Amino acid sequence: MQIVVDLTRCQGYAQCVFLAPEVFQLHGEEALLYDPAVPDDQVERVREAAVACPVQAILLGEE
Ligand code: F3S
Repeated sequence: MQIVVDLTRCQGYAQCVFLAPEVFQLHGEEALLYDPAVPDDQVERVREAAVACPVQAILLGEE
């Protein structure tokens, strides 16, 4: 699965980092790094992160 994070929306709430730390990392307050090609074993976690993000910044694309 491919994802895009809209970094203009991301406010550094870090729910994604908490739920899927292998995919999302936060450096500093608002510098979010992520792997746009989500490994299969992380897909469910990333779906949960997308739901949990308070500003819906995580956009999921199907394969
Ligand atoms: Fe940003 Fe949402 Fe994660 S605001 S840090 S993408 S939970």
